[in-house]
Amino acid sequence: YHGLRKAADKKGLNFGFAVHTSFFNMSADDPYVKILKENANTLVAENIMKPVYIQPERGVFHFELADQLINFAEANDMKVRGHCLVWHQQIPYWMNDTTLSRQELLQIMKDHITTVVSRYKGRIKEWDVVNEAIDVEEEDNFRKSVWYRVIGPDYIDSAFVYAHRSDPDAILYYNDYDAEGMNEKSDAVYELASKLVKNNIPIHAIGLQSHFTVDQIDLDEIKQNIKRIGDLGLMANITELDIGIPSNDFGPQALEKQAHYYGALMQMILESENSNSFIVWGEHDGLSWIPGFTEGKKVAPLIFDSALNPKPAYYRLLEVLND
Ligand code: G3I
Repeated sequence: YHGLRKAADKKGLNFGFAVHTSFFNMSADDPYVKILKENANTLVAENIMKPVYIQPERGVFHFELADQLINFAEANDMKVRGHCLVWHQQIPYWMNDTTLSRQELLQIMKDHITTVVSRYKGRIKEWDVVNEAIDVEEEDNFRKSVWYRVIGPDYIDSAFVYAHRSDPDAILYYNDYDAEGMNEKSDAVYELASKLVKNNIPIHAIGLQSHFTVDQIDLDEIKQNIKRIGDLGLMANITELDIGIPSNDFGPQALEKQAHYYGALMQMILESENSNSFIVWGEHDGLSWIPGFTEGKKVAPLIFDSALNPKPAYYRLLEVLND
C-alpha cells in the first residue's frame, strides 16, 4: 500500500482532498496527515480560506491557517487550490449587508479578492473565484445573493477581472453543484460561461463540484458536459467529489457501486482533453459533511472509512491510475 500520489503524479493529474478544519490542530504524525502525504499532490481547504475565516471584520485579515496549509503543501511538494473568493455562504455578517451601496460592495469585493489573491500570487495556482452563483429556480437563473442584489449580475465579471489582475498566471474557476451532467442547471452554467468567454472575461475553468449519490450518476451526460465546456476553450475539473450511499442501502454491494463510479469518473478525467484535476471533498468518512447535512440519510461518501482504512473506491482509483 503506497498511496495514490505516485500514480497521480505519473499521470500528470492533480489529485487530492479537501482538508478538514481539525487538520490545523493535528500533530505531524497524525494518521490523517500521513494519508494526505501518501495520497495527495493537491489540497484545498474545506473551510478556512472562505471569507468568514479570512476577513471576519472589515480590513482585518487572518491568514494564519491558510499559511499553515500552504506551508504544509509546499513542504510536501503539493499544490493548493484556493476556495473560495465570492460565495453567498460563509461570508462575514458585515459583507452580507444589502444596505451597502453598489460602489461600496464592489470595493469590498475588490479589496478581499486583491488582498487574498496577491498574498498567495504564484503559490496558489488556481482559485474558485465565484461559487454557486446560479439558481435555476430564479427567473433569470441568478441566485439572489447579496452580491447579485447589491451589485447586479456583473459582479461575476468584476470578480474574475480583480482576481486576474492580482495574479495573471492563476487559473480562475467558476464552481457549482448539480451541474455535472446535462440538465437545466448545467445549461445555465454553460450559458454564463459562454457569455464570460465572449466578453473576454478572464475565466479559465468550470469546477464540477460533483456531490453525487450512487445510482444517480449519468457518466455519458457528464462526459458530454465536459466536452461542451472544452469547446468553449475552458477546462472542466472535478473539484468536490463525494459519492454518498443512502443509509438504508449501505453494505458491500453499495461500496462496490461507489468504487465503480469513483473509477469511472477518474477514467473520464484522465481521458478528457480539457481536464487535469480530481479532488475529493474530504479524506475519510468520519469527517465528511454529508451525513450531517443529510441528517444521516446519506453516508460514507469518501475513499477512506472512518477508521482511516482504504475502501473499495480507493483500490479502484489505484487501479485506474496505474492502468
Ligand atoms: O467553525 C464553527 C465552529 O466554531 C462551531 O463550533 C461549529 C458548530 O456548528 O461550526 C463550525 O463551522 C462549521 C464549518 O463548516 C466548519 O466546520 C459550520 O457550522 C458548517 O456549516 C460548515 O459547513 C461547511 C459548508 O461548506 C458550509 O456551507 C462544510 O464543512 C463544507 O464541507 C461545505 O463545503 C461546501 C463548499 O465550500 C462549496 N460547495 C458545497 C460544499 C458542501 O456544502
